[in-house]
Amino acid sequence: GHQVETGLGSAHGKAILLGEHSVVYGAPAIVLPLLDLQATASIRRARRGFITSDLYTGPLAAAPKHMDPVLTALRVSAEQLDVRGDRVELTLRSTIPFERGLGSSAATSAAVVRAVANLAGVRLDAAQAHALVQEAEHVAHGTSSGLDAHAVQSMTPLRFQQGKPTTVKVADKFTFVIADTGTSGSTAAAVDGVAMLRDIQPRVVDRVVEDLANLTDDVVYALGLGDPIRVGQSMHEAHSLLAYLGVSSPALDAVVAAALEAGAYGAKLTGSGLGGCVLAVVPDQEQAGDVAAAMTAVGATRTWTTTLVPNDFDL
Ligand code: MEV
Repeated sequence: GHQVETGLGSAHGKAILLGEHSVVYGAPAIVLPLLDLQATASIRRARRGFITSDLYTGPLAAAPKHMDPVLTALRVSAEQLDVRGDRVELTLRSTIPFERGLGSSAATSAAVVRAVANLAGVRLDAAQAHALVQEAEHVAHGTSSGLDAHAVQSMTPLRFQQGKPTTVKVADKFTFVIADTGTSGSTAAAVDGVAMLRDIQPRVVDRVVEDLANLTDDVVYALGLGDPIRVGQSMHEAHSLLAYLGVSSPALDAVVAAALEAGAYGAKLTGSGLGGCVLAVVPDQEQAGDVAAAMTAVGATRTWTTTLVPNDFDL
């Protein structure tokens, strides 16, 4: 391959459209690419290891614990690609909010892996890149479903079940609004909470997981039909089921209600919950502005609009 002075890599954010938590119990999930939210990495060989980022700037060797996923991405990709990973200057930038369920850690790891590959003049295939990012994600989240590592590197929505991603057909343009409640819920606490509820009421929780699985596949179908109203209905029902599992919050519920009142077809928490973001599906770009304003009026700290474009011509 052709080596370069400065290796560059990037990856985008993601939002779970449906299937968070139930995916942990073998149900499917759908993830959307958030192409406007980007993490980028640039890397060059240097005498001493140094890292520049929003979360930490300083010597690589003195990086704090919360940089472990990034450092793991750097270490495993450098080992695999024959780069001296301890002797590089790494610069990270990201417009993906940190710890909001939008894939910031996986996207940053993916950007690092790609930048190292670029520096080494190696083209990684999707499976190789995924394996390296997943190793960093494992450090970040312990056992994780592997969903983020795929989602941040896919240009199309993915249906994801038991570790396997498949492309979801999209027949029409869909407009979504994402709103940040400004709080971060702990993924571990949310996942543990559901597991505890399942210990006490296994049949009830298994039934909810099954309902979420059915709603997820209904959304896959509705995306293929180009039917945003149907997508919204299933999202609405999913939010109630997630609240029943104990992973919503008053702030999330308020933002969901405001979105519906302002004309969204449906809205739900996205990611592990207890905080983080709400995802709403809206009729069009114009309505997106109204919905975003309504969500902001009840406390959302930031909003983003994202459109999903049809892809059924190339499937
Ligand atoms: C967190 O982003 C999504 C969960 O389903 C956990 C996981 O899939 O690992 C809550």
